[in-house]
Amino acid sequence: MKGIVLAGGNGTRLHPVTIATSKQLLPIYDKPMIYYPVSVLMLAGIRDILIISTPASLPAIQELFGDGSQFGLNISYTPQPEPRGIAEAFTLGAGYLAGEECALILGDNLFHGAGFHDLLHAARTDLSGCVLFGYPVIDPQRYGIGEVDDEGRLISIEEKPLQPRSDNAITGLYFYPPDVVELARGLRPSARGELEITDINRHYLAEGRARLVGLGRGFTWLDAGTHQSLLEASQYVQVLENRQGVRVACLEEIALRMGFIDADQCYDRGIQMRHSPYGRYVMEVARAMAPALASR
Ligand code: DAU
Repeated sequence: MKGIVLAGGNGTRLHPVTIATSKQLLPIYDKPMIYYPVSVLMLAGIRDILIISTPASLPAIQELFGDGSQFGLNISYTPQPEPRGIAEAFTLGAGYLAGEECALILGDNLFHGAGFHDLLHAARTDLSGCVLFGYPVIDPQRYGIGEVDDEGRLISIEEKPLQPRSDNAITGLYFYPPDVVELARGLRPSARGELEITDINRHYLAEGRARLVGLGRGFTWLDAGTHQSLLEASQYVQVLENRQGVRVACLEEIALRMGFIDADQCYDRGIQMRHSPYGRYVMEVARAMAPALASR
């Protein structure tokens, strides 16, 4: 399975902050926003990742991640010249996906919750159709919305409905079988001129091949597309990290725990960033796994 992070768009809702920089490189507390979606793909066990962004933003994102080998990943890059819609990720990524299953995650989505690793692994085991993740919100008009019947089966999907049939937002994390590329190729732009991810999901639903996994109350899903949500996401991460002493979306830690890198590699990354609390945390994580590193 391969992963795609869609990290483009013009970020106009964040102007003037995003005039000269990419939204997905803005900090959510102590790390760039794009760390959070990348961490989700890593937790799902995905090591081949394509990052799609604007031609202007790609060089900086590339400078941040390089080829991904510091995290035991293979990261590739593709430009999206214009924000023609989320579903364009599959046609832009068609050659990269080369007929494999894929997970798509939006570059401004933050997920956090106990048991996420197991939930992701369960989700990716049966990909006869798409797997979507639902989360209750108080402002369903802002999202793709999924309606489920009494048995928990998905029965309708609508994009930003004026009169929502449920409060179950479809989050920006999606798993698809290989035929998603063909589906995306056949898509026409919506009334607002975009290739809609919701239209892809509705195709699967019409064929009885769409599954919605509910993310429960103990789970956090945030998107960071406005000044307020960006600040709230930072505050959420700050409170958690300062209270518990553990870090959310620390890519070196996840890479180490997933077996993508060893403790030496993790420690070396920490040393490179030792002037920041993040870097010192990475060193501690490596030392906890391999106490002999303390003598280095
Ligand atoms: O966050 C979840 C929601 O994301 C879903 O519930 C909706 O169904 C889905 O349409 C999407 O809604 P948004 O209104 O948040 O989509 P937005 O246009 O803001 O795009 C989401 C992110 O994807 C944003 O960070 C920019 C990026 N993007 C978007 C488009 C349309 C691209 O990189 N390229 C694009 O062409």
